[in-house]
Amino acid sequence: MTARHSSLLVLMLTLCACSPSPAPSGRVYPGDPDSVAVYLEYCTACHAAPQPDSHQASDWPAVLERMQQRRLSKGMGLMPAPALAVISDYLQQHAGAAR
Ligand code: HEC
Repeated sequence: MTARHSSLLVLMLTLCACSPSPAPSGRVYPGDPDSVAVYLEYCTACHAAPQPDSHQASDWPAVLERMQQRRLSKGMGLMPAPALAVISDYLQQHAGAAR
């Protein structure tokens, strides 16, 4: 590994070390940074990603289903199953309390 690459790696590790994870928008999302990264990758394409506690766990599956349809109608194709699984787990884990 070259010196240039290793300093880049250190920079990336430093950036990833802070938690919770700030999105490029400056919003902060709770939880595991790797899951947040997948969540933001797929859920900021059309609008700012909502906070996971903005819906209850029981509501998220229907929202994800609607967003899949919106992707199709924009010609984006469905979210791949592994990403969908990460996003679904992430939202379930940090969903809002029942009101
Ligand atoms: C193909 C574009 C697109 C993508 C990608 C997308 N959305 Fe949406 N989303 C929309 C549109 C259009 C609306 C409805 C208009 C609005 O509220 O801005 C919406 C609304 C929402 C809403 C509020 C209304 C509702 O249906 O409850 C939530 C919550 C939401 N999206 C979550 C998500 C999540 C989570 C993801 C990632 C899995 C995602 N969106 C990805 C297009 C998209």
